[in-house]
Amino acid sequence: MRIVKSSAMEAIRDLIEPAEDGAQQTQELDRTVRRADGVIMPVAGGANLIISFIASSVIRVRFAAPGQLERDSSYAIHRPEGWGCPVTVRETIDEIEIWASPGARVRVQKESCLLTVFDEHGGVVVEDDPSHPPLFNSMDGSVAAAKLRSEHEYYFGFGEKAFLRARNGLITEMWNTDTYGYPLGTDPIYQSIPFYMALCDGRAYGLFFDNTYRTSFDMGGTDPKRYTFSATGGELNYYVFTGGCERSPRTVLRDYTDLTGRTPLPPLWSLGYHQSRWSYQTESRVRDLVQRFRESQIPVDVVHLDIDYMDGYRVFTWNGERFPDAAQLSRDLAETGIRLVAIVDPGVKVDENYAVYQEGQARNYFCRRADGEEFRGRVWPGECAFPDFLDLEVRTWFGSLYSRHLDEGISGFWNDMNEPSVFPELELDPHDFHHPAKTFSPDVVHAGDGLPGDHARYHNVYGMQMARATFEGVKRLRPEDRPFVLTRAGFAGVQRYAAVWTGDNVSSWEHLALSIPMLTNLGVSGVPFVGADVGGFSGEPSGELYTRWLQAAALTPFFRSHTETGSKDQEPWSHGTEYEQINRATINLRYHLLPYLYSLFHEHEETGAPVMRPLWFEYPSDQRTYEVNDQFLAGRNILVAPVVSEGTLKRGVYFPAGDDWVDWWTGIRYEGNTESEIDAPLDRLPLFIRSSSSVLLQPIVQHTNEMNKTALTIAAVLGAHGESSFYEDSGNGYEYMQGVFSTIRVSIGSGSLSIMRSGAYHSPRPINCVELLGLNGLPRGIRINDHIVDSTPIDNESPRLRLLLPDQNSHEISITLEGMLHANDMVDELLPFPALGSG
Ligand code: GLC
Repeated sequence: MRIVKSSAMEAIRDLIEPAEDGAQQTQELDRTVRRADGVIMPVAGGANLIISFIASSVIRVRFAAPGQLERDSSYAIHRPEGWGCPVTVRETIDEIEIWASPGARVRVQKESCLLTVFDEHGGVVVEDDPSHPPLFNSMDGSVAAAKLRSEHEYYFGFGEKAFLRARNGLITEMWNTDTYGYPLGTDPIYQSIPFYMALCDGRAYGLFFDNTYRTSFDMGGTDPKRYTFSATGGELNYYVFTGGCERSPRTVLRDYTDLTGRTPLPPLWSLGYHQSRWSYQTESRVRDLVQRFRESQIPVDVVHLDIDYMDGYRVFTWNGERFPDAAQLSRDLAETGIRLVAIVDPGVKVDENYAVYQEGQARNYFCRRADGEEFRGRVWPGECAFPDFLDLEVRTWFGSLYSRHLDEGISGFWNDMNEPSVFPELELDPHDFHHPAKTFSPDVVHAGDGLPGDHARYHNVYGMQMARATFEGVKRLRPEDRPFVLTRAGFAGVQRYAAVWTGDNVSSWEHLALSIPMLTNLGVSGVPFVGADVGGFSGEPSGELYTRWLQAAALTPFFRSHTETGSKDQEPWSHGTEYEQINRATINLRYHLLPYLYSLFHEHEETGAPVMRPLWFEYPSDQRTYEVNDQFLAGRNILVAPVVSEGTLKRGVYFPAGDDWVDWWTGIRYEGNTESEIDAPLDRLPLFIRSSSSVLLQPIVQHTNEMNKTALTIAAVLGAHGESSFYEDSGNGYEYMQGVFSTIRVSIGSGSLSIMRSGAYHSPRPINCVELLGLNGLPRGIRINDHIVDSTPIDNESPRLRLLLPDQNSHEISITLEGMLHANDMVDELLPFPALGSG
């Protein structure tokens, strides 16, 4: 039986003498205690300022009261090995300086407690605003910090936000909220990630405010010279990521995800196309749906079962009339390469005859109010109790409940309504998104894994801990498989457990446009596996909108169509044959590029880099990229410029400075730092490959199980020297962690390309073809290893030179184009290459 002591919630702030209005500014320090990784500085008035170096480029700042320091714990932080970095401390009468060498440096002015962080070159990264020293308010428990800002500083990240542009000049809050049909600018919405990345003149840094209360960030919205962050409770506990020597977005995100964790490589099947709606109501509807996909040769891997599969919405049950034999259904679907994902919400129906409720109640696993009464709220099943996911024992129990579905062959789980959301008992205006009646009552008490606290403290982590219960439970039950979990709510670190979708969006062009910055900003907030409901959840898209949305999402990490109950069909064929053909080609494109996308997930696990990237992530010195919100990069090598407005058949595309780009469809080469009008007929997603780079492709398959039967292709753009690397493994399980994976390295030089395959994973997939895009003409001769190739198929439809490799099992392939030093240096006497590179 689990015991939650609500009385143990006393906050440190009570120890600080309140000023008249409750506000208390930190005061002069008197004695410093040194630690290997930093210092503890007592502050007159009762607080301690603790500065520690997590790594040479990661500084933690923590304000707390002496003697009452809470156990140092965080739901966000995933402690890496080697936590803490040795530092040197220098103290004078006025100042304390702490630095890692080489590394960042922190200076604290003793009298004011003002803090400045410098990078390893001595440049200022963040600096407290002298007119707004760090603040504790002992009356209401709030904390705040203010930093000076340059007017040219841009901010990105903050997790899931319904903003189109960078966050400078904006005020934003963190309070997980169910916001059905959120209009642009609605804030907050489902997820809380109090981390941002700043960019100023090409240099990046990051800041993570590790506080689970309701937090606010005013990024120059009130005063352009300052930004502030504050919370309604908890400690002033934050991390500054200086970006190391490079000061690049990549190093900032590497350090942030070292701290908060990364997404482990997902199962390959989860990168396929997912089809969903609320709900495919019956088994026969699901079977018909799958049959339609297979008959019309539209690839798909996953079908989602929304709430109507359950018996009266009781989690971990089935409606026996609609789904008489779930195990048989999943077995049959598995034969055609289909997996099922089932939704599981947190609300457990209050029903004395329902085993899950009985057990949860008997073991005291449901959330209670401070007076000990079980908290109840209405959701889909009617009156519900809610597991306290802020408790290991409860998470373990809930996680174990998935065994039934796993035995039935369900492959993945979708956690929804976990903000947590409850239906308000009073009639609310649907636009009153943030009414307190939409979530748990404030007097609900959570176990906090040994640090009990009220709902205000743990609201923002409830959903993430539910996703954790699911992920860890499924992993325990099926240790050989990689779990797939999808969650709506989350907090910093949610990426360790789940993919995230952007909730109940709207079938509108505005929402399609919004999906790009929403997803790229989630990516730079450490969450790589993200997607928006294709076609929009609320409302009904036109054929054109659905088709453009499918294109825009084809290279987003999580690719799922989903719509609300009662709406018209929203499948790739629902708008007639003309659209169906285009939609098939779009999903084919996804499967074509799947080996490349899979490699990007591996890159994320290794480095923290997102799969879907804003342009500035790779081109921070090109300040024009800071304002580009309708294009993104899939990894480093593909630039995607979807059409996000109605009736548009051409669009402007900005090519970031420093690289040339080649149009995937036309072979036309574009220089970096230019903008061009690009044709975008309805059947085309504008797509560009970076010069001197390559991507890994496969022929079209109908689902990921078919992949092993096909060969691989490398598509490359020649140019100056460049390297690309791709990753392969079995697509599931954990052998890759023991080194069972392999790497394909492609090096590009002037007029040449070489491929090296190495590693312990014996891939069944030969590389049988190399495609060269963006050539200006034909080379005089082609040599592949030691063979001279004299006839080469030319694909005029999508201009590219297609080289079939003679020895497909070779681990080293070298290709030389003779008579072609640089692709750009082609001379007139070379054979004309029809329709190639005419731009
Ligand atoms: C919520 C989810 C949505 C789901 C519906 C029914 O609105 O966001 O995706 O379809 O609940 O479960």
